[in-house]
Amino acid sequence: MIIEVSQLVKRYTDLIAIDHMDLQIKEGEIFGLLGPNGAGKTTLTNTLLGLTSASQGTIKIFGKELRKNNKEIKRQVGLVPQDIAVYDNLSALENVRLFGRLYGLTGEELNKGVADALEFTGLVHLQNKRPAQFSGGMKRRLNIACAIVHKPRLIIMDEPTVGIDPQSRNYILESVKKLNGMNCTIIYISHYMEEVETICTQIAIVDKGRIIAKGTKEELSGLIIDDNVISVDIESPSYSIIEKLKALPQVKDAVADGQTVRIVSNEMKLNDILELFLEEGLAITRVSANTPTLEDVFLTITGRALREETN
Ligand SMILES: Nc1ncnc2c1ncn2[C@@H]1O[C@H](COP(=O)(O)OP(=O)(O)OP(=O)(O)O)[C@@H](O)[C@H]1O
Ligand SMILES: [Mg+2]
Repeated sequence: MIIEVSQLVKRYTDLIAIDHMDLQIKEGEIFGLLGPNGAGKTTLTNTLLGLTSASQGTIKIFGKELRKNNKEIKRQVGLVPQDIAVYDNLSALENVRLFGRLYGLTGEELNKGVADALEFTGLVHLQNKRPAQFSGGMKRRLNIACAIVHKPRLIIMDEPTVGIDPQSRNYILESVKKLNGMNCTIIYISHYMEEVETICTQIAIVDKGRIIAKGTKEELSGLIIDDNVISVDIESPSYSIIEKLKALPQVKDAVADGQTVRIVSNEMKLNDILELFLEEGLAITRVSANTPTLEDVFLTITGRALREETN
């Protein structure tokens, strides 16, 4: 185990951000942490890195207790923070060098680490430019370069693809897989289920500071495999239909996501469902039945959509 968290609690004045969490992560995984806004993902990260102190519970990383071996552990961990943390008045190269020095690198090891990190993130041709002139995707890549300069054994990436173009997103997802292939364990935090489904070998779904489900994508889908997932596209969004759908006996859950209504039903009886749409005067543009996604797993367990604001 590379991480063992036991009964972890993090309290802020009037709220529990991490609620008696147990979590084990094996070396070599790309471990996905999926959860809505405010679930406690970043708080967990900060606690794992000793950036904020836990209120209760124990954390072991690389088999050693974090509290007693903080410095030694930190040297082998890289953090890609949710909010981009680079210096606008330093060049890309100077930024990566600075982080390398903070992690204790010097001399040839520092030069090599910096060159490798820039190469790995595809930033060599921009190394003398300042991030103020970078696009969102380039800044995200520089953020990653700074986190891997010391060749960590464990990397925590906190929503590394927010606000960037699809090309940079693919680049980053590919580099996560490549880093994993280089014997690096990765904790990949996101609320994009598609990303987590694509690259992660293990997934934990987090909600309200607790882990509500954990397993491979297949294991998690298996939690609701007996259910049918029906998507109905309508011409204009409607929320009033949701309560009516939920009142049907076979419907376990329903949620509106823009012009799509997703319904988890334990029977494939479409008639009653579609009739409700017609009664509401909603023009249906498409109906499809799918195998469950992680979004459906989340919906079934919590009764809420993953991308809904919870606070
Ligand atoms: N320094 C703080 N003081 C008080 N409350 C905080 C603090 N940091 C976070 N919280 C609260 O703790 C809860 C968890 O926040 P956290 O940032 O860990 O969520 P998250 O899962 O990372 O969300 P997001 O997807 O939006 O990044 C939220 O309710 C948040 O408001
Ligand atoms: Mg966060």
